[in-house]
Amino acid sequence: MRYFETDTYYHMSRMAANIISAQIITKPDCVLGLATGSTPIGIYKQLIEWYKKGDLDFSDAASINLDEYLGLDGTNDQSYRYFMNKNLFDRVNINKENTNVPDGKAENAESFCRKYEDKIDELGGADVQILGIGRNGHIGFNEPDSVLVPTTHLTSLTESTVEANARFFASEADVPRHAITMGMRSIFKAKKIIVLANGESKADAVKAMLEGISTKCPASLLCLHPNVVLICDKAAYSKV
Ligand code: F6R
Repeated sequence: MRYFETDTYYHMSRMAANIISAQIITKPDCVLGLATGSTPIGIYKQLIEWYKKGDLDFSDAASINLDEYLGLDGTNDQSYRYFMNKNLFDRVNINKENTNVPDGKAENAESFCRKYEDKIDELGGADVQILGIGRNGHIGFNEPDSVLVPTTHLTSLTESTVEANARFFASEADVPRHAITMGMRSIFKAKKIIVLANGESKADAVKAMLEGISTKCPASLLCLHPNVVLICDKAAYSKV
């Protein structure tokens, strides 16, 4: 794992956007592994800016997202499909048919998870996967536990995650308690992984991630992947 500490969130986002844009330029038909939440918004803003300048072309690229809340369809403004459309897909020339976000309204969620895993395999895994970290060390919605499910699966959110994500909803009671998420093995199919963390609220998770491997901190498993770049701002790196 390579580590970079940046002065600000802006610099963290720019560094990650540079890696992703190099990927798109050197392999236009690449597969981008994408995340939602606050962390990657700066990256998406930068990529949109470069696209508008004519420096990036997404027309041959495909994407695959980490997760989605169970019960929300893509028109719900709290869904991750809605987030991706609003923050990236609608603002660059990616072909929406080549974008994949788990279907939170799938009739049979278990069978949907198997199909999503097949899709990851069909795409050959992501060329580059962006990851944020939960305050409790979660990756995707792989929450700390004694055992982790390796492939795409249905999962329950921990109270800490519900509380952290409540800021996006009218109230904590509105946060869905279940989600579909790629498993750690699905994520490991990526050829390169960029892990991002900013702000003091992520400092404990970053520390735990680098201290030793444990399913109690799913992010720590990333130390086992051969090509991971961790980019943190000063605050997130402050306890290491
Ligand atoms: C999002 C995801 C989550 C977030 C994590 C950090 O698709 O899978 O694991 O990356 O919860 O969220 P933020 O960036 O909002 O702090």
